[in-house]
Amino acid sequence: MTLYSGPMPILVPTAIVEIFINIQEGERLRKMKETSKKEKTEALTRLLKRINHGADPKLLRKEATNLLSKINPGDIACAEQNLIEDGFSARLVQQLSAAFVLMGIIEEQSKNIKVNLADNHVMRRVMAEHELMRCFLADLRDIEKAIAKMTHLTDTSAEFRRLCHIVEHLEAMEEHIAREEDVIFPFLRKHGWASLCRSARSDHVYLRVAVDDLLRLVHTYEPRELKEFRAKLSSIVQYLVPTMVEHLMQEDEILYPIALEVVDDDKLWEKMKTVCDDIGYCGVHI
Ligand SMILES: [Fe+2]
Ligand SMILES: [Fe+2]
Ligand SMILES: [Fe+2]
Repeated sequence: MTLYSGPMPILVPTAIVEIFINIQEGERLRKMKETSKKEKTEALTRLLKRINHGADPKLLRKEATNLLSKINPGDIACAEQNLIEDGFSARLVQQLSAAFVLMGIIEEQSKNIKVNLADNHVMRRVMAEHELMRCFLADLRDIEKAIAKMTHLTDTSAEFRRLCHIVEHLEAMEEHIAREEDVIFPFLRKHGWASLCRSARSDHVYLRVAVDDLLRLVHTYEPRELKEFRAKLSSIVQYLVPTMVEHLMQEDEILYPIALEVVDDDKLWEKMKTVCDDIGYCGVHI
């Protein structure tokens, strides 16, 4: 009988071997995840640069749709950071990522959003107010054109009263903006969409100033200053109308489709609605 004379084998319990294998596997998966995150961020950075260069929109839209389903807000933030490090301005980066999201969201999907919402859903009301605002903006443009041709206008003229009515509705928009800034945007920020909220918020600052200018102009009207009034009205309308139309479009087609996508919890929307009900809605005031 031969006795074993070599070094004694170290007996490792099976459980420890399994733990060791699991750690190695975990490490491998973590590295894989990191690589794929890096790849996704780099792909997105490249795509944003191509959007900036004005590549074929059809191709860009296809790639954006494909990429949007694989990434999260964190990946977008990393790609935005890459562009800033490459010398892009923060404003341009914001616009590029907004354009990317717009391209990625299938058009029909964002257009059907309103139809799929319950009538008492808070977003349905917000979007209905947008529709109403578009009508008032169109009226504002029309009344500005009508007043531009007038040589006589008093504060009892039908045109002046119509203008006052439109301005009152635009002023009531403050409640709409307060609801967005105090309720909806904070929820979106919490889900990582701070950059998109930032640009909507900065639009609000300019829109508020323009509506205030319009209010002041109407409230201080003197019939003998008609010429000056017409010039000021025209310059405010030329700025306010396209800026607000663009803002409403950004909210309807980018921000709110994202909000409905990321806040996928009916209870949260109900909670938001309760706070919004407290703030109030444009139109009827009790
Ligand atoms: Fe009214
Ligand atoms: Fe807004
Ligand atoms: Fe809005």
